[in-house]
Amino acid sequence: MSTTNRYSELPQFPESIWRATTEFPPFERLAEDIQSEVTVVGAGIAGITTAYLLAQAGKDVVVLEAGSILDGTTGHTTAKITSQHGVIYDELLRHFGEEQARQYYEANEGALHFIRNLVKRHGIDCQLKDEDAYVYVQEEKNRKQLEDEFKAYEKLGIPGEWVDRIPLPVMSHGAIRLGGQAQFHPLEYLKFMVHELQRMGVRIYEHTTADKIEEHDDHVRVTVQRGYHNIDSQHVVSTSHFPFYDPAMYFARLHAERSYAIAIKPETTYAGGMYITADTPDRSFRSVLLDGEELVIVGGENHKTGQGICTFGHYERLEAFAGQTLGIRQAPYRWSAQDLITLDKVPYIGQISGGKDRVFVATGFAKWGMTHGTLAGQMLSSQILGQDNPYTDLFTPSRFKASPSIKNFVVQNANVAKELISGKVDIVHTHVDDLGPDEGAIVRHDGRKAGAYRDKEGNLHLVDATCTHMGCEVEWNNGERSWDCPCHGSRFGYDGHVIEGPAKKDLDKLSQ
Ligand SMILES: Cc1cc2nc3c(=O)[nH]c(=O)nc-3n(C[C@H](O)[C@H](O)[C@H](O)COP(=O)(O)OP(=O)(O)OC[C@H]3O[C@@H](n4cnc5c(N)ncnc54)[C@H](O)[C@@H]3O)c2cc1C
Ligand code: FES
Repeated sequence: MSTTNRYSELPQFPESIWRATTEFPPFERLAEDIQSEVTVVGAGIAGITTAYLLAQAGKDVVVLEAGSILDGTTGHTTAKITSQHGVIYDELLRHFGEEQARQYYEANEGALHFIRNLVKRHGIDCQLKDEDAYVYVQEEKNRKQLEDEFKAYEKLGIPGEWVDRIPLPVMSHGAIRLGGQAQFHPLEYLKFMVHELQRMGVRIYEHTTADKIEEHDDHVRVTVQRGYHNIDSQHVVSTSHFPFYDPAMYFARLHAERSYAIAIKPETTYAGGMYITADTPDRSFRSVLLDGEELVIVGGENHKTGQGICTFGHYERLEAFAGQTLGIRQAPYRWSAQDLITLDKVPYIGQISGGKDRVFVATGFAKWGMTHGTLAGQMLSSQILGQDNPYTDLFTPSRFKASPSIKNFVVQNANVAKELISGKVDIVHTHVDDLGPDEGAIVRHDGRKAGAYRDKEGNLHLVDATCTHMGCEVEWNNGERSWDCPCHGSRFGYDGHVIEGPAKKDLDKLSQ
């Protein structure tokens, strides 16, 4: 085992291996009022899969994407396709009971089979590969939690196996292996669906941000930002990651967590398999092929968005860990992204709010969106087509009644309240003159707090640091050069433009 521990050899700018190796056709911005049977808002795995299944069933579908398709979290995932979601089944058993805990497993296995069948049927070239999934613990104190998880597997009939050691050169105090899982190149897989959408005449609009919804008796109207064009449809699906329309307090029922990944050329041969720890900090591994050569994606360093302190430090810790475990010859890619977690860790998929049978949502995939996003496509298309779905009750967004939901609602919103207050009272000593090239910080400027970033050419970008969603103070993210909000996870570019919601309005630019 190598003890290499080199810092700062990571790329200067983040880019995911998936985005770097896949090209999509460009699509126009919406420039007129239009109609459709279904409007899908947001082109990640959930939106593209939903649009694909509805178009296949003969529906006239429009897809709206605020940026470029598949450049959100789906473009920055690690793309393990598995029903082993860290440790979850013991908790599901306790809070949802045996029947629904088993349904969770079956629904995710169904999504895995859907992907496998589609790839096989159409010969999609996307590196789909069967792999064993392992959840393991590095710290002995966490072994009990893993043992409880294994008991839940036995009770639910999940075909996992307890193993004391894992094939990787890392310390483990036990692991659960689940065979028959898979990994792939997510964007090469979804590129097939995008081509099919084009072939079936689905209209896709990029750089088109859905803003408002008006619900009428016989249709729903979506209005987009810039140009204020309308799309009138029978049904609207919100697969915009954070719901772009919030009639049911989603902002208080979801929180955003970021994670980091690096793709390395290891010094040692990778033993195969997909791994995740049940410890803190979390760690994850899988392999990927790049030009015929095997690389390893090492991931982890989970934290709440906007609460990560020095975000580049998270990459450096992953790099040090990868160096100690596998050795690093080269680290050509680094990237990070965030995903949304619901109060009870089960996604919200279904009618956006009780009684609104024309508007649907899929969100809160808890870092397991390859299966959950696929499942969302399966469930939402069947609900819109009026077909029964066995998982409707488990995933319905209106379920907000179970005990963990109430407890987590209180904890989460107390955290938001704390951020709201502490961001306002923190005293800032940094001044814009203290910033070197490519540095950003909250500074004191003209007697008030401001967000400042000095780019490599020395130009200063100043923004109002108050989040346009609900008024928390954003934090500088030096790993991605963005302003991140600690309350509900909105993110803004260094110049203040919205990268991801719930905020829809840019940060105000300030003059120097
Ligand atoms: C680091 C990391 C690793 C992960 N690894 C795994 C893994 O190994 N396996 C796994 O199963 N899952 C994994 N996940 C989770 C998975 O990647 C996500 O759950 C999934 O990609 C989310 O897909 P989505 O379609 O909901 O969202 P996205 O892919 O984010 O798509 C939403 C789209 O909506 C657009 N949008 C937003 N607002 C609007 C608007 N108002 N109008 C129009 N468009 C809008 C956005 O621009 C975006 O393109 C990981 C997540 C992270 C962060
Ligand atoms: S995301 Fe809600 S206040 Fe910033």
